[in-house]
Amino acid sequence: MTCCSVEDFGQIERLTGMLSATAKADMDIVREVLVSRNSQLFVARDDNGRIAGMATVCCFTIPTGRHATIEDVVVLPECRGMGLGRRLVEEVLAYLKASGYGYKVGLTSRPSRTEANALYRSMGFRQKETNVYTMDV
Ligand SMILES: CC(C)(COP(=O)(O)OP(=O)(O)OC[C@H]1O[C@@H](n2cnc3c(N)ncnc32)[C@H](O)[C@@H]1OP(=O)(O)O)[C@@H](O)C(=O)NCCC(=O)NCCS
Repeated sequence: MTCCSVEDFGQIERLTGMLSATAKADMDIVREVLVSRNSQLFVARDDNGRIAGMATVCCFTIPTGRHATIEDVVVLPECRGMGLGRRLVEEVLAYLKASGYGYKVGLTSRPSRTEANALYRSMGFRQKETNVYTMDV
C-alpha cells in the first residue's frame, strides 16, 4: 500500500468508473480527500507503479461514538482474484486499529455485487437489517 497524489488522478478516475455506470471522480474532490484529516485514500500499486486497486475510509464522530465508513473499494479487472481487495480492506482496518480510537466500521454493498459481499462477509463484517436512505442536497 502506498500514498497517492493528484498526479494519480487519471488512474483514480479510471478505477472510480468501474464502480458503477454513474460513478465519476472529480479532481477537486480527490484533492479534498488527499488533504482531509477525516478521509484516507488507500491505493495498491503493481510493479510498474500503476494503481491496481483502491479503498477510501471516512472517519466521523457523533455523540454515540467514533465511526468509520469504508467506501469505493475497487480493483482493476485484470488484478482481481489475487488478494488485493482483501489486502486493501485489511490495511484500512489496521490503520483504524492503530489509531486506538475504537471505531465502529461500516460499509454498504449492493446485493448484486457478489464478489464484494463475499469479501466483506469473509472478513467478519455482519449484515445489519436497516434501510439505507440517500438524498442529494
Ligand atoms: C470486490 C473486489 C474489490 C474484490 O477484489 P479482489 O482483489 O478481486 O478480491 P480478493 O482477490 O482479495 O478476494 C477476496 C475475497 O473476495 C471474494 N471474491 C473475490 N472474487 C470473487 C468471485 N469471483 N466470486 C466470489 N467471491 C469472490 C472471496 O470471498 C475472496 O476470498 P477468497 O479468495 O478467500 O475466496 C473486486 O471484485 C472489484 O473491484 N469489484 C468491482 C467493484 C466493486 O464491486 N466494489 C465493491 C463496492 S462495495
